[in-house]
Amino acid sequence: MTIIIEQPQFGIGVVEENKNLYNEQELVLDGGFVVPHINTFGNNFRDYDAESERQEGVENFYRMNHVHQTYDFVKRMREEYGKLDKVEMSIWECCELLNEVIDESDPDLDEPQIEHLLQTAEAIRKDYPNEDWLHLTALVHDLGKVLNLPGFGELPQWAVVGDTYPVGCAFDKSIVHHKYFKENPDYSNPAYNSKFGVYSEGCGLDNVLMSWGHDDYMYLVAKENNTTLPSAGLFVIRYHSFYALHRSGAYEYLLNDEDKENLKWLKIFNKYDLYSKSKVRVNVEQVKPYYLSLIEKYFPAKLRW
Ligand SMILES: [Fe+2]
Ligand SMILES: [Fe+2]
Repeated sequence: MTIIIEQPQFGIGVVEENKNLYNEQELVLDGGFVVPHINTFGNNFRDYDAESERQEGVENFYRMNHVHQTYDFVKRMREEYGKLDKVEMSIWECCELLNEVIDESDPDLDEPQIEHLLQTAEAIRKDYPNEDWLHLTALVHDLGKVLNLPGFGELPQWAVVGDTYPVGCAFDKSIVHHKYFKENPDYSNPAYNSKFGVYSEGCGLDNVLMSWGHDDYMYLVAKENNTTLPSAGLFVIRYHSFYALHRSGAYEYLLNDEDKENLKWLKIFNKYDLYSKSKVRVNVEQVKPYYLSLIEKYFPAKLRW
């Protein structure tokens, strides 16, 4: 399988270069907020150094992301990944797969990724014991990050993580590092740079193309494999990095009534996604049977990815 990604200015070094930024991206971008880095040696100068280096990495990430996420790029990615011809595996197998990958590349997280997913799920379960669909949604919401693996096209970070936003209409000013959109070809394309662009008021997010990343990919996987998760679960999976909407209230004019209802759940979910960055340990083996039963309830035994 070959996936061609447009990288007109940055060439072959891009994937490697961005892999090195993985920790910074993960900590800062996925939750959408900066998680403070604590230097246990208490060295201020070094703190400052690390901080400015990290900011540079984040800024470079967003430059790459904003320049390359065009309407055409998203369409091609959705076509390619919509084929679901990469691999067949269960949800739990994918949790374990993600586990291996993140563990290797993320020395800042001293727990395996699966614990990280389960922390979010367990925190929600504690406060919303009856919403079992939301527990499972939390478990699977980041599984799309396998896009970063060789078997899945080994996409660069800017096409996997980070805040997401609509393409095909004007990029809202509230999107972080908005200035880099000026280098995106869509920015000066009259078909795509007006308030509504190719969309219309209240058209519903289902009709809107979002910048490509792990969110939309996992949504496609869940949907095409006929999950029975409710629409709010799919909404959370698909838009959990759409910070311009759920943090800044941008693009609300694209929502339909169902989106507005689902947005309430997304805002609840988001608090727990951030909370899970804390150090609450989860005993994987102990909670595994519960999550396996949820997987069985809402997903087929094997899914096409
Ligand atoms: Fe995520
Ligand atoms: Fe997450």
